[in-house]
Amino acid sequence: MSPLHISAISLISLILRLILTVHSYNSPLDELSKTRRRISHRTSTPEDSTLHVQPGSSFKVALFSDLHFGEDAWTEWGPRQDVNSIKVMSTVLDEEQPDFVVYLGDVVTANNIPIQNSSLYWDQAISPTRDRGIPWASVFGNHDDMPFEWPMEWFSSTGIPPLHCPVNASCPGESEGGKGCSFKGTTRLELMMNELKMNNLSYSKFGPKDLWPSVSNYVLKLSSTDDPESVVAYMYFLDSGGGSYPEVISNAQAEWFNRTSQEINPNSRVSEIIFWHIPNQAYKTVAPRFYAHRSCIGSMFVEKVSAQEAETGMMKLLEGRSSVKAVFVGHNHGLDWCCPYKNMWLCYARHSGYGGYGNWPRGARILEITQQPFSLKSWIRMEDGYVHSEVLLSSSTRKE
Ligand SMILES: *[C@@H]1O[C@H](CO)[C@@H](O)[C@H](O)[C@H]1NC(C)=O
Ligand SMILES: *[C@@H]1O[C@H](CO)[C@@H](O)[C@H](O)[C@H]1NC(C)=O
Ligand SMILES: *[C@@H]1O[C@H](CO)[C@@H](O)[C@H](O)[C@H]1NC(C)=O
Ligand SMILES: *[C@@H]1O[C@H](CO)[C@@H](O)[C@H](O)[C@H]1NC(C)=O
Ligand SMILES: [Zn+2]
Repeated sequence: MSPLHISAISLISLILRLILTVHSYNSPLDELSKTRRRISHRTSTPEDSTLHVQPGSSFKVALFSDLHFGEDAWTEWGPRQDVNSIKVMSTVLDEEQPDFVVYLGDVVTANNIPIQNSSLYWDQAISPTRDRGIPWASVFGNHDDMPFEWPMEWFSSTGIPPLHCPVNASCPGESEGGKGCSFKGTTRLELMMNELKMNNLSYSKFGPKDLWPSVSNYVLKLSSTDDPESVVAYMYFLDSGGGSYPEVISNAQAEWFNRTSQEINPNSRVSEIIFWHIPNQAYKTVAPRFYAHRSCIGSMFVEKVSAQEAETGMMKLLEGRSSVKAVFVGHNHGLDWCCPYKNMWLCYARHSGYGGYGNWPRGARILEITQQPFSLKSWIRMEDGYVHSEVLLSSSTRKE
């Protein structure tokens, strides 16, 4: 990853962007509902948030995390990484043939994207899944709506503007009186709107409005095709922040989870699986440096756990529900472990992208959900086909 280029310019553009964000809050949904009306005649849509699994068969999910598309787009290196990341996803999809894909955040490196529209890169990242007709859902990571940071070489030798606009960069400032470049990033709401508008296979959601700017908060239901009333699992997606606001899962999100889970799964009868991007503090306590529970499996200690800034109560709620089987996060590109923690497992995905920091080999975590009885199995599929770290997450101890 390129170093951060903090400057007065990026600070000003951040402030501008926040103002613009607030002003654009209503329009994405309006536009989307128009699109939704057009396609609402379809019999099975992601709108009812239900996924289906055939009786007797399992439901396989591939997690793609930290793809970091759009990195260093002004060099030859950058676009080459995206081609490599497409190859990783294509290989995993063809070898595993999953029923569903989860994009676990940091789909794009927005602070590296010198155009207004991160959605173009987002779309490239989605394309291997869409091209194979596989449905998916996404959550936001801390890089997805970062403000663009001008590379140092675009400044004068003194390191102070005048900066020049890169060729083909979006420069709204120029049309507004030639004052040079300014940047309006792509907000979470715009990213989500563009994902949903163009993709009838996307199960992603805007989440409740009162949780914004935290956007990707929603739950999907996995049901058996023979009996839609018999729910196999609930999959919760939460926006762990970062980028345009702090890296936390807020009280409001915890309350939303509390309300929702009690409403749809009051007796904790149905298993629950949780996805978000940035590990929370429990990841630090479960695997402190150089020491881990004997049941931990996967790559540990090659870097330290970068946890959310604060713990606001989400974890307490998860600990209180026997139905919660596992939490899956990305964010730390070098870690791919699973460790038991109280009533559940805490797991990392495997970084799938060639963008972003670190050169650890790429791959994807795979989940396999079976019903009657419920089981949740997981392993990691590497780009070269190697499979490792298989673990049974529906029991409290590691499968031997
Ligand atoms: C953003 O990208 C979408 C396609 O990904 C395109 O339809 C739209 O026109 C773009 N908007 C801008 C402002 O570039
Ligand atoms: C800029 O965009 C134009 C047309 O959109 C294209 O022909 C040209 O090659 C682009 N230049 C660069 C340097 O990308
Ligand atoms: C989804 O959209 C594609 C085009 O993007 C179209 O070919 C396909 O028929 C659509 N599927 C449904 C179920 O509407
Ligand atoms: C969760 O909901 C219950 C009531 O259904 C309430 O007693 C409890 O305080 C809530 N917890 C949080 C953290 O909101
Ligand atoms: Zn990342």
